[in-house]
This record gives sequence, structure tokens and C-alpha cells, in this order.
Amino acid sequence: MTRDSAATSVDAVLAELFAAAADICRDRSPLTQRLLTDAAADLAAGGVTARIMAGAERDREGTVPGLRFAGAVHRLVLEGRAPALAKHYPSVGGRPDLPRLWEDALPALTEHADVLRHRVGATVVQTNEPGRSAPLYGGLLVAAQEAARAAGRQVPFCVRLLEVGASGGLNLRPHRVGYRLGDGTVLGDPGSPLVLDPRWTGLPPADLTHRLRVVGRAGCDLDPVDVSTADGRLHLSSFVWADQLDRWKRLRAALELAAADPVPVDRSAGPEWLARQLARAERDVLTVVWHSVVWQYVSPADRAMGRAVLADAAAKATPTAPLALLVFEPRREVDHRFALMLKLWPAGISLSLGVGEGHGTPFTWNVTPWE
Ligand SMILES: C[S@@+](CC[C@H](N)C(=O)[O-])C[C@H]1O[C@@H](n2cnc3c(N)ncnc32)[C@H](O)[C@@H]1O
Repeated sequence: MTRDSAATSVDAVLAELFAAAADICRDRSPLTQRLLTDAAADLAAGGVTARIMAGAERDREGTVPGLRFAGAVHRLVLEGRAPALAKHYPSVGGRPDLPRLWEDALPALTEHADVLRHRVGATVVQTNEPGRSAPLYGGLLVAAQEAARAAGRQVPFCVRLLEVGASGGLNLRPHRVGYRLGDGTVLGDPGSPLVLDPRWTGLPPADLTHRLRVVGRAGCDLDPVDVSTADGRLHLSSFVWADQLDRWKRLRAALELAAADPVPVDRSAGPEWLARQLARAERDVLTVVWHSVVWQYVSPADRAMGRAVLADAAAKATPTAPLALLVFEPRREVDHRFALMLKLWPAGISLSLGVGEGHGTPFTWNVTPWE
């Protein structure tokens, strides 16, 4: 194979990944879907997108190169560096004109190709989606009550929440968010700047009149986003699909809540951090390890180490200092939709609690065994 034909074949693989990412946006974000579809064609033809993606051609599918590209382009728009393209972006007051999107994108992509290449290479997808607090809240209620039942207690446990891959930490305040149910009831904190419509079918298998009591929170990320800075807020904003204004508003409200209740996110790989956190067991507290939409980004070595750290802590869990693993991740078994899964030690409980959309809402509660 010649050098040119080798380059062409890797661009073709990348073009397929862009097309797959465009498909993820189908019915959700016509703007991002169109951008990625046109960029896929441009990649296959060796256009400017191939220049921007140089160096990322062999990235794993799970790192979603297309969404990194879309995020980098959105950031350019948010920074005011692509005015002709901005008129298509509702996040800055524009209105999409999809047939003209690519011709308006091309001059900006060409002018800023080096900046874009650097950003695509330097970042992973760091969408920090506050909507995921809704399945998290329901899952924590179930965990706190099931752990108490297994320990023969009347009152649910207080929770210490440990989040791996927390990004900007926007899901570290599940008890300070409001959740407005279909019948008008608001769970959590009705006075919160962030009140979600969780769009639940069914309800968490828990007594919803009990309050969730969170007595400790901590998070880590390989590359934490500092939401107290304008740059951090811009970074998170760039990953929200620009024509999803409801998510845009949700992010603004979550940032407001974070400013009022700051929780730092530690810079660390998950396993080392978890080992440090789990070395200290707290009596009368349920320790919950939580991660959402992180697993696909974690290296095989970190996955193996993470499993070992958790197994070690699980073996040491006691009825008075129990441990839970709560995750919200895409699963092959449910057509790549996102499942909320819970394990509890020493109770020996292992359940799938339900399935929902990747951004956390809507969500259907349906308890089945987690094998
Ligand atoms: C798509 S974001 C999800 C953020 C957040 N969990 C949420 O649901 O909103 C994935 C995050 O996982 C982080 N990450 C990937 N591998 C990691 C690892 N081995 N240890 C810690 N964080 C990791 C990335 O830096 C990124 O911020």
C-alpha cells in the first residue's frame, strides 16, 4: 500500500466514525447531524476535515472523534471567531439553515484548522450532563434504602458519593437539584436553580417520601474542568449540541448551582483515587461509587485496576459501613441505550434499575437482575 492510499484508508475509517456520530444526533440535534455528515464526506474526499483530524485517525471508536470535532467547532462559534457559521447556531442566537451550513463552515474550518486540530487532539468528550442527576437521585434513594433494609435498619443510610470521571462535577449535587414529576410533585430541592423534568416512566423502587441525605461528596477526573473559570464553563458549553436549547438552559442552571455550592474535582485517574478514598470506611454511611458515560473512555489497564480496587473494598464492606456501585452507562444488551445499574455489598444485591436516554431523561424504571 502506498503512503497516500494508507492515508486515504484511515480517513475512510474516520469518515465512518463521523457518520456513526452523526447517527447518534439523529432526531436530537439536526445541526450536529448535518455538520458531521458533511464533515464525513469532506474527510473521505481528503478535504480540510482531514487536516483538522490529522493525528486522530487511529483513535478508538469509544473516544468519539466526531463529537470532539463538533465540540471544537462549537467552541470556535462560542468564542465569536466564526461569525458566518454562528448564524446557524441557536446557542448564540442563530437559526440553522442546514443546506447552507457546510458552505458557511468551510471558511472558518480552513482559517482555524490548526486551532481545531490542536483542540481535537488535546481533549476527550467532556460533556457534563446535569440531566444524569435524575437517574442518579433515584438510584441513590434505592441504594440507601436497600442497604438499610439489608442491615435491619428502619432509616435509610446517609450517603457518601464518590464520582469517577466527574468532568466539571455538575452531578455531585443530586440532593440539591429539584425533580418535577408528571403529577407536579417535586423531589429533591424545589428551591434549586436547577429543576429537572426527569420524564420518568414508572418510579424508583423506593419510598420517595424519604429525603436523600448526602454527607460527603468527592470527584476525580483525568482532566477536571474548573467550572469556576470562564474557560471551564466555555469548555463544557462547547459539548452541548448547539440546537438543544433545553440542555443549554439546564447547563446554565447547573453552573449557577455549582457556583453556589462548589465541590472541587481532583485531578487523578480513577483507580488510584478510588483506592485512596475507599481506604477510609465510614461507619453508618453508605459509600457510593458512581460513574456515568465514562467507561468507554477508560483504558483497559485502568479498567482492570478499577475492578480490583472495587473488589478489595467490596470484600471489606460491612452492614454498618456498606458499599455501592451505581453506574449509568451504554449497554449492548439494551440496544446501546443507557442502563442504571446497582451493586451493594455486603448485601449481595445486583440490579439493573432501568434504561434511559444518554442525557439522563427520559428514563424508564424497570428492575431486573444485573448479571
Ligand atoms: C463524557 S464525560 C462524562 C462526565 C460525567 N460523568 C457526566 O456524566 O456528565 C467522560 C469523563 O471521563 C473522564 N475520564 C476518562 N477516563 C478516565 C479515567 N481513567 N479516570 C478518571 N476520569 C476519566 C474524562 O476526562 C471525561 O471528563
